[in-house]
Amino acid sequence: MSAVSTEKMSSTYTLFTILFILIVTVYFYVRKLFCYWQRIGVPFLQPKFPFGNFPNSILQKMSFSEELQNVYNNSTEPVLGIYTTLKPSLLVRDPEIIQDILKANFSSFNHRGWYGNDKVDPMAGNILLLNGEKWRQMRSVFSPAFQIGKLRAMFDVINGCGGSLQKFVGQFADTETTVEMREVAAYFTTNVISSVAFGLDVDCFANPKSEFLKYGHMFFDASFKNIIRSNLAIMNPTLAEFLRLRFTDKEVCDFFVETVKLNLEHREKNNVSRKDFFQMLIQLRNTGKIQDDGIDWRGYESASTAISFCMYELSKNPKLQERAYEEIVNVLAQHDGQISFESMNAMKFIESCIDETLRMHPPFGVLTRKCTKNYKLPNTNAIIEEGTMIMLSVAGLQSDPKYYENPEQFSPDRFSSEAMVDKNFLNMPFLTFGEGPRVCLGAKLGKLKVKVGIVHLLQRYKFELGDVHNKPLKFHPKSLVKFAVGGINLKVKAR
Ligand SMILES: *[C@@H]1O[C@H](CO)[C@@H](O)[C@H](O)[C@H]1NC(C)=O
Ligand SMILES: *[C@@H]1O[C@H](CO)[C@@H](O)[C@H](O)[C@H]1NC(C)=O
Ligand SMILES: *[C@@H]1O[C@H](CO)[C@@H](O)[C@H](O)[C@H]1NC(C)=O
Ligand SMILES: *[C@@H]1O[C@H](CO)[C@@H](O)[C@H](O)[C@H]1NC(C)=O
Repeated sequence: MSAVSTEKMSSTYTLFTILFILIVTVYFYVRKLFCYWQRIGVPFLQPKFPFGNFPNSILQKMSFSEELQNVYNNSTEPVLGIYTTLKPSLLVRDPEIIQDILKANFSSFNHRGWYGNDKVDPMAGNILLLNGEKWRQMRSVFSPAFQIGKLRAMFDVINGCGGSLQKFVGQFADTETTVEMREVAAYFTTNVISSVAFGLDVDCFANPKSEFLKYGHMFFDASFKNIIRSNLAIMNPTLAEFLRLRFTDKEVCDFFVETVKLNLEHREKNNVSRKDFFQMLIQLRNTGKIQDDGIDWRGYESASTAISFCMYELSKNPKLQERAYEEIVNVLAQHDGQISFESMNAMKFIESCIDETLRMHPPFGVLTRKCTKNYKLPNTNAIIEEGTMIMLSVAGLQSDPKYYENPEQFSPDRFSSEAMVDKNFLNMPFLTFGEGPRVCLGAKLGKLKVKVGIVHLLQRYKFELGDVHNKPLKFHPKSLVKFAVGGINLKVKAR
């Protein structure tokens, strides 16, 4: 044998040895990792390399929310150890433990756990993603904004947008054509957000090509990039941080930050003072307590989702739509025909319809917390270690026949005040807005927005399901926000 080929053989040999050692190391590492829940002593779901229990959401065949609901449905354990990619996380199914985590032992879980990097990405600094101490500061700055008095002050602006919505839908009623409710609801909520939060009179009905709408859509767009980063931000924050992922495209982020800056300058230069959210931001900023970019973006998409799903359910159930319409007629008759903050509050049935919509179609089907202090699971000896992600399946809990009889049925009366008398979180868990000290701040404003939109729609028109809806809704596998494939298409008739 020649010297050259001996050398070649030995280097091939070395390469194989290294490869072999590498594979064995990875194998044992992953095996040890996948023994995590066994070691802790918690029932668990057997994972597969490399995506753990969530291959479908990583491969984008199913949304993470749906896959987690699957896992929820398939188990009866109060808590279940799962692997979100290679990372061990804990699915908590039992309302009592959930309540403990979200309320009583909040101090061990005061972190949402999503990855958000506000150095590379200022939009990550919204309330939805903020964590720990930073979140507490931000929240104490924001809370006054959502008090009832402030809502009342914003009502006129929102109601004005509702009027535009009503007018816009009129053209579909005149021609008896089908309207895609989600898009129209997005015009409405964009108008509301831009005037309430940014103090700008953007009219998407007159100008559907508005940049606000464009960038708003881009923020929530179900593109491959967006899904990978939102899935990773939730499932494996450490990896997302390592990869320095942005939560939003730079272009989208720049647009909103620039809009806020320009508007701020404009108001200060021209001494404009309006009764809106943006004015409060200016005041807060002048008292040195706020950054330019702290708006809760979550309200934007969830309100239009809620309006369109509610209209869908009411079109599917004409009797309930009639009841809602009659309520509007009766309540307005007692309030000089005015849609006002007071008359709106008196519409209890419509309120229940919205709650029931949010139960069946929670815009975000997953809620997360990160354990920030070792925590002993109640009634066991298992210690949940600091750093573990807690996953709550909002969609799973809210469609569980154990808590909601016939969960597939839209029955607003579950939420009537009579039915709610002996209900609490343990026998009727409802997590669309979160729970405990982190309960969604914008919830009240969001619900008011949804209600104003729906009342304006039902007041003048009658809705029926479009022809495409002769089969059950299918949901977009790639969207973080619950999203019906093909949209919500409704036929409109004038009343
Ligand atoms: C989970 O179970 C509920 C109630 O039986 C059902 O409505 C829902 O479609 C199931 N969801 C999934 C994703 O399996
Ligand atoms: C849930 O259980 C069913 C039947 O037992 C099984 O076919 C399905 O694969 C399971 N799904 C998951 C996500 O484990
Ligand atoms: C701005 O308006 C306030 C009252 O609306 C007034 O007191 C103040 O002098 C004005 N400032 C300037 C610079 O015009
Ligand atoms: C959780 O909170 C309860 C009540 O505040 C307390 O008694 C208990 O020790 C806490 N458990 C842990 C593990 O921190």
